[in-house]
Amino acid sequence: MYTEQKIMKVFITRRIPQEGLKILSQAGVCKVLMWDSDEPVSRAELLKGVAGAHGLLCLLSDKIDTEVLDAAGPNLKVISTLSVGFDHMAMDEIKKRQQLLLCRPLHVLCRGVRVGYTPGVPTDATAELTVALLLATARRLPEGMVEVINGGWSTWKPLWLCGYGLSGSTVGVIGLGRIGMAIARRLKPFGVKKLLYSGRTDKSYAAEVEGEYVPLDTLVSESDFVVVSCALTPDTQGLCNKDFFCKMKNTAVFINTSRGAVVNQEDLYQALSSGQIACAGLDVTTPEPLPTDHPLLTLKNCVVLPHIGSAIYSTRGIMAELSANNLLAGLQGTDMPSELKF
Ligand code: DGY
Repeated sequence: MYTEQKIMKVFITRRIPQEGLKILSQAGVCKVLMWDSDEPVSRAELLKGVAGAHGLLCLLSDKIDTEVLDAAGPNLKVISTLSVGFDHMAMDEIKKRQQLLLCRPLHVLCRGVRVGYTPGVPTDATAELTVALLLATARRLPEGMVEVINGGWSTWKPLWLCGYGLSGSTVGVIGLGRIGMAIARRLKPFGVKKLLYSGRTDKSYAAEVEGEYVPLDTLVSESDFVVVSCALTPDTQGLCNKDFFCKMKNTAVFINTSRGAVVNQEDLYQALSSGQIACAGLDVTTPEPLPTDHPLLTLKNCVVLPHIGSAIYSTRGIMAELSANNLLAGLQGTDMPSELKF
């Protein structure tokens, strides 16, 4: 006697690390269709690729909205994102589909569209990158390199390319979650005097870094370094705006490695160009990629990176493995290693 195995369709929106592909091909439960390129899939190809799929493995740059869910159709059981952030997915729409499916007759064994993500995996990589970006911005490393290359380095000058140091400083972390805490742990040994944090709730684990829970206004006005590490939600969208930058010290450094939309970029441009704040380091922007003629890129006191927080080979490999395992569990209706509960 043999059981007929139903092969399910999976669409992957980009070339992903081999570690993830290997897991999917060895599992033998799905037929994988992958957009085999490092460049993003076009909207038309995404809609075509996802049609009739049981599983979708996507990236943070793919907008997973009603149109994509409709294009996938009723087969869709699982969306697995190769990211810790999930603001690129229309969670309300996905939730609605879960509720609709739950209303179906009970003999239809279907749990709705489940979502997998990769929390925890990029924590260390993102925290390291945040520290690197903070130091590069505050100590003006990109400017210094340009001066060396362009022949601007004529002699040693006492105030040339001076910046700001962490020793004896006050650092404010907005969002002391997993990544925020990993950043705080790494910054403390630089001689940070005071570590402030703000967010929805006081965190007992903040004691490890002697973190002081303060209202956002206090953090913004007292910090020498403001580090944004919160998730993008309706509450945090545009949080760093004119009002916010006006409260910062003129000598303060602003760092964002969470999501671009937490910042009002026009207001940030004004704050940087008017000297309202000293400098900014961004690993995330709106949009991504940031157009090369964007005003922020004309500023010497703004360091912009192309969203590389988790870009360490091993980290991306583990993220791909976890996304593949989340996807398989969603296809097979078993427990996911990292399921997003919403
Ligand atoms: C994520 O996984 O959401 C990060 O932004 C990647 O760097």
